[in-house]
Amino acid sequence: MYDFAVFWDWMAFAVRWLHVITAMAWIGSSFYFIALDLGLNRNIPGPADGEEWQVHGGGFYHIQKYLVAPERMPDHLTWFKWESYSTWLSGAALLMIVYWVGGELYLIDAEKADLALWQGILISAASLTVGWLVYDFLCKSGLGERPTLLMVLLFALLVAMGWGYNQIFTGRAMMLHLGAFTATIMTANVFFIIMPNQRIVVDDLKNGRTPDPKYGKIAKLRSTHNNYLTLPVLFLMLSNHYPLAFATEYNWIIAALVFLMGVTIRHYFNTRHARAGNPTWTWLATALLFIAIMWLSTAPMYQPLEEAEAQPLTPYEQKFADADGFENAHDIVLGRCSMCHAREPVWEGILWAPKGVLLETEADIARNANQIYLQAGVTHAMPPANVTYMEPADRQAIIRWVRNAGL
Ligand code: HEC
Repeated sequence: MYDFAVFWDWMAFAVRWLHVITAMAWIGSSFYFIALDLGLNRNIPGPADGEEWQVHGGGFYHIQKYLVAPERMPDHLTWFKWESYSTWLSGAALLMIVYWVGGELYLIDAEKADLALWQGILISAASLTVGWLVYDFLCKSGLGERPTLLMVLLFALLVAMGWGYNQIFTGRAMMLHLGAFTATIMTANVFFIIMPNQRIVVDDLKNGRTPDPKYGKIAKLRSTHNNYLTLPVLFLMLSNHYPLAFATEYNWIIAALVFLMGVTIRHYFNTRHARAGNPTWTWLATALLFIAIMWLSTAPMYQPLEEAEAQPLTPYEQKFADADGFENAHDIVLGRCSMCHAREPVWEGILWAPKGVLLETEADIARNANQIYLQAGVTHAMPPANVTYMEPADRQAIIRWVRNAGL
């Protein structure tokens, strides 16, 4: 039987799976090389700049680093680029699946900005492109010579973007877009800067020319940025599963503090790998930032129930509210789900709506039709362990209602 909602949920799962795998490959190799590079033994004879012995999986590895390149180019050279490209491509696909196709629910927030879906999608796509252009411009301006100032400006740009996204998108779309904005800069650094520069150097060597060391210097600046941005990007991507991070009033400040945590954590490991000390103060700084984030997250963003009930339905919500069987489904949800999925839950131990999913007003229920269908109709994921005794007939009624809306 053809059922688009089920198919689409599986697509999202498959692409997410791929995205996590590629991201692990990218971040894994990037962490490996950073640690390797910082930890090289530099006091060695011969033309190499440094070397390291490693043991892994039953074999010994002897790695040597050549600062510009060896005298003779080896026949076979392994490049590291598809880890990054495939992460970006799968991430872009996932963004489209969740935030463009599911835009009515996850991207657009009518309370913040009255956007049509296509306008939201356009802003989503354009902002990622423009972000790279602005960043690249900053790096290529004289600021490239003043890396610390450049980092501060980059931080300001990221905070401004977080604030800006929060003016128009839902909290979770804001967090995710800020992550995608940052990750686009990182992949574009690989694609437009690091790789082309490396190709020039390889080409020079093959043709017996001495490569200009400036290419290595430029690549180094960009990869330092990537180094500090990696951890915040992961936080922002994962934050989508934690409403305390995204569904609160100060979510954009939380995002800003996360970027600082990225710096304090990386600074610790960079220093350790370089065997240049043990800056334990960074752990204290990280912990304080995390505590500040927890505190900020307690400022709730939910509208009071009366206000939410008074709001007119959007055309998208109206479609589900008009479908046959809505009233019945509405009663079922109020009876079986709202005790937990409420602005002020009454279920013992549930202090805020799980996953930020609110199921109280007509609009809430109409808006979440797809998720209700998947979580409590087609599957028995909700209520957890069927604690509110949902009957098979209730599930049937939900399935009938959502199908009536013409999925
Ligand atoms: C006893 C409290 C409780 C009740 C009752 C309950 N839920 Fe949930 N719901 C949860 C919890 C807890 C989670 C988070 C699960 C997790 O962490 O994966 C959740 C998550 C969800 C999600 C988000 C799933 C995701 O992964 O994004 C949806 C949608 C949902 N519930 C719908 C419903 C529906 C529909 C009903 C009624 C038929 C219902 N819930 C009843 C506690 C409840």
